[in-house]
Amino acid sequence: MKSRRMFIKSALTGIAGSALFSNLEARPLVLPAKTTLASPDNTESYWEMVKQQFPFASGLYYFNNGSLGPSPTMVRSATNEYRKILDEFPSRYMWGDWDDEKETVRKQAAQLLNTSEEEIALIHNTTEGMNLIARSFDLRPGDEVILADHEHTSGTIPWQVWQETKGIKLVKPVLPIMPSSVDELVSIYKKAITPRTKVISMCHIVNTNGMILPIKEISELAHKNGILVAVDGAQGAGMLKADLHDMGCDYYAASSHKWLFSPKGVGIFYARKESQHLLKPLIVCKGHTDKTIRRLENYNTRNLPEVLGLGAALSFHQLIGSDKIEARTFELKNYFKSKFEGNSKFRFKSPASNQLSAGIQVLEVVGQDVNEVQDKLFNKYGIDTRPMATFGLNGLRISLSIYNTKTDVDYLANALKDIS
Ligand SMILES: Cc1ncc(COP(=O)(O)O)c(C=O)c1O
Repeated sequence: MKSRRMFIKSALTGIAGSALFSNLEARPLVLPAKTTLASPDNTESYWEMVKQQFPFASGLYYFNNGSLGPSPTMVRSATNEYRKILDEFPSRYMWGDWDDEKETVRKQAAQLLNTSEEEIALIHNTTEGMNLIARSFDLRPGDEVILADHEHTSGTIPWQVWQETKGIKLVKPVLPIMPSSVDELVSIYKKAITPRTKVISMCHIVNTNGMILPIKEISELAHKNGILVAVDGAQGAGMLKADLHDMGCDYYAASSHKWLFSPKGVGIFYARKESQHLLKPLIVCKGHTDKTIRRLENYNTRNLPEVLGLGAALSFHQLIGSDKIEARTFELKNYFKSKFEGNSKFRFKSPASNQLSAGIQVLEVVGQDVNEVQDKLFNKYGIDTRPMATFGLNGLRISLSIYNTKTDVDYLANALKDIS
């Protein structure tokens, strides 16, 4: 990078003199503004202030973070600035001048997930990460991959497309929508394991009803049996603290555009040091033989302003803090649930305990079709949620995120009561 800067400097000085070069000095990056976000305050007015960081379309009450997260203003501004800088001197920033900044983002992601930066690749989304894993293996006929019935298509289709034609067996345990304990879930996975099992691919948090799956327990079980664990972290990263070394999985793919509020089309991929050599880049181009994890993220020209925007999103997350975000998520969940206590017109379809669900709750309005409830909620009240009809849920998937205040939750609960 330095030699490229020197080259540009001498080339430009030679052609047009130092006055021209001085206009072309590397543009400083816009660092996220220090705000009162970092305050220890935990009052409702603090969370109102957090909400102000996320301007929404007028009249919209957004409870649909599980589908896609918004970016706060500082992330939008930083990303726009990166785009501007890039467009002022495209070749310079795309190939070389932002190498250090990209490494900083990798470090920030590693810090968030408690991993080494040598275990983090900056990719586009969870779908890519799950494809990367499934594509890497050359499984033999009869080898088995465990994929529970609640897995997202991003986790299942890659196994079907890249591996099923080879005669592998996809083992699909059925998960209860309301498990009573972690042990109940672990025992379901345990029963699905056979001597032919090679991989368990599972969500950190399922997108259907927000159930948290016991990654740590399953990873321990799997590793005792020589099985790899691939985790779809699309709904986990950013909502819950994720210490991946402690969780022990081999791979973790996350879409930072959900609960980390990054620009769209960026994601974080983790591969445990010991399991990294098994992975092959999905796209091969210059850099594919790199011995480090960087070989998994080379696409030649790519969305660098968004990747650096992820850095701004990680800074935003750090300013508030993972502990505080996780605690607020549970606070909102329990506040929301308390609004329907003892009310027979409603039925929760997400497991109650904090070990088994967090910021995604599915709620059925008893006796009403979920699609009609969702329409009414949006058309009359401006509330966006996701209807979930599969697995007999017939409930609204309500995402509770840090920009949803208790006043917003009151508004949602009252609207639902009106509809019921
Ligand atoms: C559990 C889960 N996995 C994967 C995805 C796909 O995410 P992306 O489109 O960002 O790859 C989603 C999206 O909703 C999801 O909920």
